[in-house]
This record gives sequence, C-alpha cells and structure tokens, in this order.
Amino acid sequence: MLMSNKPAYIVSALVVAIFSWYYFISRAFPVNVQYLNAVVAFSAVVIIGISFLLGPLAKFVKFTAKYEGQRKAFGIIGYALACAHVLLIVPLLLQSSPQLTLGDAASLAVAAVAFMIFTLMALTSTQKWAQSLGYDNWKSLQRTGYIAIVLVMVHVLLLQKGVFLTRITGQVAIGIVLLVLLLRGLCLVTGKPSTKITL
Ligand code: HEM
Repeated sequence: MLMSNKPAYIVSALVVAIFSWYYFISRAFPVNVQYLNAVVAFSAVVIIGISFLLGPLAKFVKFTAKYEGQRKAFGIIGYALACAHVLLIVPLLLQSSPQLTLGDAASLAVAAVAFMIFTLMALTSTQKWAQSLGYDNWKSLQRTGYIAIVLVMVHVLLLQKGVFLTRITGQVAIGIVLLVLLLRGLCLVTGKPSTKITL
C-alpha cells in the first residue's frame, strides 16, 4: 500500500518552524526579506538533504525503510523552497550593492549549476520520464543530485569568506550534506544494492 506524503509534509513544516524559531525568536532578528530568505534557503538544504538520506539510511536502519517512498515528496518540497530562495535573492541583490569577492562570484556560479541540476531532477521525477529515458539512464540522472548537493555545500562555504562555517545554521547545512556523502559512501563500500524507485 502506498503511504501518503503526510510524513514529508510534517517533517518539512517542522524544519521550517525550527529555522523560523531560531532566526525570529531565539536570535530575535527582524522578519524581513533577508532573514526570510535565510529560513527558506537553510530549510531547502536540510529537506533536500533528508530526501537524499532516506535511500541509504533505509539500508542501515531498518525502521526507516518504510519512509523511503517519501524521497520524492521531500525532494519536491525542498526544490520549491530552493526556488523561493532564488526568487528572494533578486530583491536582496538589488537592495544592496555588495562588493562581490571572487569567493562570492564562485559561490553564485556553483549555486546556479546546482539549481539547474535540481530543476532537471524535479522535471524528470515522473514515471513517464523514467520510462522514456529507460530506468538506468533516469537513475543516473537522479544521481547527479549528489553533485548538486555537494555544490550547494560549496555555495554555502564560499559565501562571505566562509562565515557560515562559524554559524550553527551553516554547520547544520554542511553537516547534513556530509552525512549524505558518508551514508552513500558506506552503501558503495558495503555493496548494498540500490532499491528500485517507484514513483
Ligand atoms: C541560481 C541559484 C542560486 C543563487 C543565485 C543563490 C544566491 C545566493 C546568495 C546571493 C546568497 C547570500 C544571501 C545573503 O547574503 O543574504 C545565498 C545564500 C544561501 N543559499 Fe543560495 N543561491 C542559489 C541556489 C541555492 C540553492 C539551490 C540552495 C540550496 C538548496 C541555496 C542555499 C543557500 C543557503 C543555505 C544560503 C545561506 C543563507 C543566508 O544567506 O543566510 N542556494 N544564495
């Protein structure tokens, strides 16, 4: 029986609530575009991260296997938040006239590539695309997501001379990407077969 997407909605709402609590209540920052953008962007990283974690996690922690089917829902919610982030960046960049360092420019370039990959993944995340590309090609395309999530980590690391390395939000975002890579690496090393995805 197919599970509804309720767990993905609940967990995603929780992630957004926790980042909102952190910025607007714990740190008492003003509710403006800059901090709304931060909530949206960090939530996107964590929710996309959860989407990537569910597959490998199911191989090692048995009870999580029943949530493997939530990968797509988490992925689409995370992608929607990433789109909101890209839209919110426009007024932010227009408002300020920042001195773009080389690091900032590189950060934006890798972010743009990551965003293009996520867009392709989201657009092709249907049964129809899986059939027309052939399952193996389609799976390889979905796997480019690992490159995208690493690029997101580089995007965050390069921003403002690495300031997010010293902030809890940045550490959480980087931590989740490293966890995704660790579990994926463990799957490869231990030769765990990948599960056939049904959309
Ligand atoms: C074309 C694509 C993208 C562009 C142009 C872009 C641009 C930016 C810019 C300019 C900032 C700095 C904002 C500030 O200083 O207030 C930023 C921050 C950030 N971006 Fe992106 N980004 C893109 C894609 C992504 C994607 C796909 C993700 C994650 C899924 C992401 C996650 C983040 C995070 C977590 C931050 C730090 C939030 C903060 O500034 O407090 N970005 N991005």
